[in-house]
Amino acid sequence: MNTRSFLTKLGATSIAIASFTVASLISLHAADKKLTVGFAQVGAESAWRTAETESIKSEASKRGVNLKFSDAQGKQENQIKAVRAFIAQGVDAIILAPVVETGWEPVLREARRAKIPVVLVDRGIKTADESLFATLIASDFVAEGRMAAEWLAKKTGGKASIIELQGTPGAAPAIDRKKGFEAGIKAHHEMKIIASQSGDFRRSGGKEVTEALLKGSGASVTAVYAHNDDMALGAIQALEEAGKKPGTDVIVLSIDGVKGAFEAMVAAKLNCTVECNPLLGPMAFDAVEKALKGEKLPKKTVVQDRVFDSNSAAAELPNRRY
Ligand code: AHR
Repeated sequence: MNTRSFLTKLGATSIAIASFTVASLISLHAADKKLTVGFAQVGAESAWRTAETESIKSEASKRGVNLKFSDAQGKQENQIKAVRAFIAQGVDAIILAPVVETGWEPVLREARRAKIPVVLVDRGIKTADESLFATLIASDFVAEGRMAAEWLAKKTGGKASIIELQGTPGAAPAIDRKKGFEAGIKAHHEMKIIASQSGDFRRSGGKEVTEALLKGSGASVTAVYAHNDDMALGAIQALEEAGKKPGTDVIVLSIDGVKGAFEAMVAAKLNCTVECNPLLGPMAFDAVEKALKGEKLPKKTVVQDRVFDSNSAAAELPNRRY
């Protein structure tokens, strides 16, 4: 080998060694790198929401994920700002529990442009472009509303004058739980919603709205259907203050299955709750990890829920994790 070809060969070998070292360092760094995930939460309006926040936070710490948490205090504009801030900070992924169904396209397009996958939890959005999010993990809210209606029809023999306490206007669970319940009572001509108003998924909202309705269009109420347990617990207070016996004079049923609802069932003040599981942390981070590996995810994973009433409440209460 002459000097020239020896030097050429030496050069090529050094380049190969250098690029191998850089590649190994990059992949080592990638394996070691702590994931940073932004979680844009709705707020803290209910016990259910607090349980969901806790589930996401504890799963993040279990997996060594650096979690950036934002509480939007029930306002979509705050959530949009939080998502934009996560994008600007260069997070690896975003978990979003959208407060309402519409108005998400612009900010989700920004996330897509930045190549940041967005995992939706608990509430869905309305969009013609489903590629804007990686996946949605949520309960079937229409089915929950229908299960509540079916339970009430059975309990009352298909006869009830109902006050409906709706969730936050524009939120997927408020829209779908109304839809499902209405579909469930449709065949029962003596089941009527005599008054329906939003209590914003809050206990105080449920109490105030029930108080007002009892004095007006809801005076002849025989059943209260609340889109969540917190509002039902508020309604129970209002019924008691109005001299009625909740659970007996007026049937009260709701959705979520939080501990407080089970306690109220054991106390015979609440009649039924349809479970809606908020412990979504493990599924959410599985989805984040898969999305980051480029794996294909189902567009929606439906979380299974059960119905509990005063007959099953006492046995179930010790098992409740939220
Ligand atoms: O999106 C889930 C709903 O939102 C829960 O039923 C309610 O409690 C919460 O605030």
